[in-house]
Amino acid sequence: MHVRYFQADLKHFRIKENYDVIYSSGVIHHILPEWRNELFEDYREHTVSGGFNAFNVFVQKPYIPVPPDSDGDDDTWYSGELLRLYADWHVPVFQEKEFECSSGNTPHRHCMNILIARKPE
Ligand SMILES: C[S@@+](CC[C@H](N)C(=O)[O-])C[C@H]1O[C@@H](n2cnc3c(N)ncnc32)[C@H](O)[C@@H]1O
Repeated sequence: MHVRYFQADLKHFRIKENYDVIYSSGVIHHILPEWRNELFEDYREHTVSGGFNAFNVFVQKPYIPVPPDSDGDDDTWYSGELLRLYADWHVPVFQEKEFECSSGNTPHRHCMNILIARKPE
């Protein structure tokens, strides 16, 4: 198997080929609201029919304080927003999980949405 590595800024990176799977973990909270529709349209368009997109994202909850180690982007996604971007795909997995975290040495909580979506054939 051939694996190609490269580095790019999410904001400017656009996919040029089609893929079976597009996946990211712990990153898309950096995609600001004004970029989301365009970037996810790019990911969706460049997924083959029957292919998968899999993402997780931190989401805001009014009863969970902004994490102490927040870089400012962590609370801009709302619960269910990622699911809405895949409203017209199959969604075999969608979960919302709350969990404890001690990054930055201060105990705090996060809420995360987890999605696996399959593009219709
Ligand atoms: C919490 S880490 C997750 C890393 C890895 N996916 C993992 O699960 O361990 C978030 C990563 O997003 C990267 N990142 C932040 N802003 C970005 C941007 N605009 N474009 C691309 N990557 C970015 C950071 O450099 C960091 O490596």
